[in-house]
Amino acid sequence: MKKTILMISALAFVACGKKTETESTAAAAAAPAAISGEALFNEKGCATCHGAQGKGDGPVGAALKPKPRNFSDAKWKFGYDLATVIKTISNGSTGTGMAPYKGVLTDAEIQAVAEHVRKLGGKN
Ligand code: HEC
Repeated sequence: MKKTILMISALAFVACGKKTETESTAAAAAAPAAISGEALFNEKGCATCHGAQGKGDGPVGAALKPKPRNFSDAKWKFGYDLATVIKTISNGSTGTGMAPYKGVLTDAEIQAVAEHVRKLGGKN
């Protein structure tokens, strides 16, 4: 008899533990951490070519031809409206150091980093 009661309380304990885990997972999915375009720019390698301030003067960019875009240039090769910048970062620029980031970054991350490079260039 004593053994049965012990087992029941042990089962109840396990069940409670599971429920708490499911609830916290759901809460995390409902409130994703804000994505920082600036952090992505610095942490995903963009700054090594484009420079931390986006002037096209990063250490890795120095040896490249064509040079990485200086985002404060008045003219950008592909255009600096948000939709175009998202497309450029997603697809890269064939035959240059600018690699396609689709699949490397999520769509939301690409949008955040696109907004950041436009900001560096004073485009928004
Ligand atoms: C290995 C060096 C390198 C890295 C890393 C890199 N880029 Fe580039 N990027 C370039 C080069 C070179 C160009 C110029 C391509 C051209 O002239 O066709 C360029 C062009 C661009 C352009 C096009 C601007 C225009 O003129 O239309 C954007 C936007 C851009 N990069 C954003 C990014 C972002 C955001 C990241 C990080 C997710 C990144 N780049 C990482 C080298 C790099």
